[in-house]
Amino acid sequence: MLKTIPHSEQIFYVGADDKTLDLFESQYPVPDGVSYNAYVIRDEKTALLDTVDPRATNQWLEQVTEVLDGTAPDYLVISHMEPDHAGSIRAITERYPDMTLVGSAKALGMLPQFLGDMPGNPTRTVKEGETLELGSHTLHFVMAPMVHWPEVMVCYESGEKVLFSADAFGKFGALDTDQPWTDEARRYYLNIVGKYGAPVQTLLKKAAKLDICAICPLHGPVLTGDLAPYLEKYQTWSSYAPEEKGVLVAYASIHGNTAQAAALLAERLKALGETVVLLDLSRCDMAEAVAQAFRFDRTVLAAASYDGGVFLPMEEFLLHLQYKAFQKRTIALVENGSWAPCAAKKMHTLLDTMKDLTVLEQTVTIRSAVKPGDESALLALADAVHQA
Ligand SMILES: Cc1cc2nc3c(=O)[nH]c(=O)nc-3n(C[C@H](O)[C@H](O)[C@H](O)COP(=O)(O)O)c2cc1C
Ligand SMILES: [Fe+2]
Ligand SMILES: [Fe+2]
Repeated sequence: MLKTIPHSEQIFYVGADDKTLDLFESQYPVPDGVSYNAYVIRDEKTALLDTVDPRATNQWLEQVTEVLDGTAPDYLVISHMEPDHAGSIRAITERYPDMTLVGSAKALGMLPQFLGDMPGNPTRTVKEGETLELGSHTLHFVMAPMVHWPEVMVCYESGEKVLFSADAFGKFGALDTDQPWTDEARRYYLNIVGKYGAPVQTLLKKAAKLDICAICPLHGPVLTGDLAPYLEKYQTWSSYAPEEKGVLVAYASIHGNTAQAAALLAERLKALGETVVLLDLSRCDMAEAVAQAFRFDRTVLAAASYDGGVFLPMEEFLLHLQYKAFQKRTIALVENGSWAPCAAKKMHTLLDTMKDLTVLEQTVTIRSAVKPGDESALLALADAVHQA
């Protein structure tokens, strides 16, 4: 069935929901699936905007065939070469050898890397500010390097005022999932694009000059209506500012004593009126832990000592934060050790590699199990976190 984007008669949605994928990018659980979005603009000239993951090639081709209704497309605009969007280029170039491939110099340069050779199709390299006339629709190309690969460009269609935003403004979750945008957009953005705050800021500045009625990302729903809340979230996330006041309490506990300490501290913070998320790093989705750390202004890290260092789920978490340029937050530490506690020292060393973190001096050290003296130290630490 033909499907257009909201308020449009000529921009078609031809993407696919994937609800059987176990891990997106072999890393992120997607319990509600994920969508690979692709679009078609039908005008005097017809443009396909991106393709889909190889897992959805057939479904996409069926929809494209229906939209084209026996005609051949003039252009395939390639915004990003990552296989979840470029993975069906071979299938479409074989069908339409005269269709022109449109992309940045870097994107077209990457094409033979993925395909082994260059398709015989004509190509058109576009630069910042160049346009492609389709009839009543005009595509304006805007380069967006490192959002989230170097070859990325977005395009603004001025006739209907639509921004095709590539991976920006995307979200995990299939399109038929009824859920608010923010949580899964946050987990998606901070883990996938998070490291590239500065390039996202550059793109937001360019977008601010455009009159945009709809944003068509490559994952998740088309955004319409009041776009300010989405733009504000991206402004916050890309500038690494905390989104809200609150505390993530993340723990890595071998036998459960450190978990008990973390829970006690979390309860106290809640009693003080704080918004608190308590996560077991041995069992939770690491991407969710990263997202929650970025969401709040404060994080408590509680971990058992382990082989002269820190229990590995905590080390892994801190490495994830380091990779995603975690910064501008306040941190408190709780360590546990049975003979030579060393978790806090190791956590400190990892935190020292990150920018603009305030680590509270008041660290709690527990010896094996939580005893009354530890309880009062944990409550005092909760009070210090509350006041920080
Ligand atoms: C494989 C292993 C290595 C450990 N290495 C250390 C260590 O280097 N230093 C230390 O003080 N305790 C070490 N411990 C003890 C843990 O820190 C101990 O489990 C902790 O004191 C109790 O907290 P938990 O109940 O949250 O695990 C180790 C435990 C295990 C199982
Ligand atoms: Fe991507
Ligand atoms: Fe993507």
